[in-house]
Amino acid sequence: MYQIISPIVDRKIVSDQIHLLTFKSKEIAKDAKPGQFVNVRVSNGLYPYLRRPFSICEVNYDTFSILFSVFGMGTKVLAEKKAGGSLDVIGPLGKGFSIDKDFESAIIVAGGLGSAPFPFLISRLKPDVNIKSFVGARTKELLISYKLENISFATDDGSYGKKMNVVELLSDEFQKGSFDSKVKLYGCGPTLMLKALSKFALENNFDCEISTEAAMACGFGICQGCPMESSNGEKYFLVCKDGPVFNVRDVKL
Ligand SMILES: Cc1cc2nc3c(=O)[nH]c(=O)nc-3n(C[C@H](O)[C@H](O)[C@H](O)COP(=O)(O)OP(=O)(O)OC[C@H]3O[C@@H](n4cnc5c(N)ncnc54)[C@H](O)[C@@H]3O)c2cc1C
Ligand code: FES
Repeated sequence: MYQIISPIVDRKIVSDQIHLLTFKSKEIAKDAKPGQFVNVRVSNGLYPYLRRPFSICEVNYDTFSILFSVFGMGTKVLAEKKAGGSLDVIGPLGKGFSIDKDFESAIIVAGGLGSAPFPFLISRLKPDVNIKSFVGARTKELLISYKLENISFATDDGSYGKKMNVVELLSDEFQKGSFDSKVKLYGCGPTLMLKALSKFALENNFDCEISTEAAMACGFGICQGCPMESSNGEKYFLVCKDGPVFNVRDVKL
């Protein structure tokens, strides 16, 4: 883990209101694993005070990128940043996805901005693993498929792809017998989606890892502010340190 004043080297709008910000940091880029995150001090002033965590979306040699849309105070400030500036970034943080490749196909299930960690994951799974992506959102405008592969879409309002939620879409494909090889599921999205995905995976005996979210302050296990209950109810994990990626067998959402 490093704390580095990282130069912003690129800023792109990748689709409707979705920003990709690329930082240069040899150290963070070298150590990052898919599913890990960075904790960004979005402003050099005091406002907003707390850092904001973002999944590492892509890594290329000595740069890494984050993907976000404007949500509230922190992302509003972040969206105004330009190449040439720099921000204080701590990372890489947390435990990422396992990429043991002991499977033939990876199924990616992403809701909204939950797409963010997957370009990096896909880059590390290829070329030996087949990728299939299921992407969902409330409406067409909110679908994010940046650098995902082999995609099926679902929207709640039916404005693009199938009119259903993304886990229903996954379940439909499963019923059709589409998953014929050894499969691993990776999910990221809103908690309700992750709950449905966990249920699907456990009922059908799939190995499944999910990237979870919690309000965070420190980002590395000091403030105790991001608890997640274990599946047997016997203990609490810290999302920032023990996660954000968990196996669905281990946590109660
Ligand atoms: C491990 C981890 C990885 C993350 N990765 C990404 C990422 O790759 N891209 C990204 O855009 N965001 C990501 N987030 C969420 C991100 O850290 C911010 O919380 C989010 O972008 C909103 O920040 P903000 O300062 O704009 O909003 P705030 O000003 O903090 O919040 C504005 C309002 O939105 C609510 N709110 C804040 N965050 C969320 C949320 N996630 N879902 C629903 N309501 C919310 C708040 O309660 C508040 O009412 C991640 C969070 C975690 C914990
Ligand atoms: S954010 Fe501080 S312990 Fe997790």
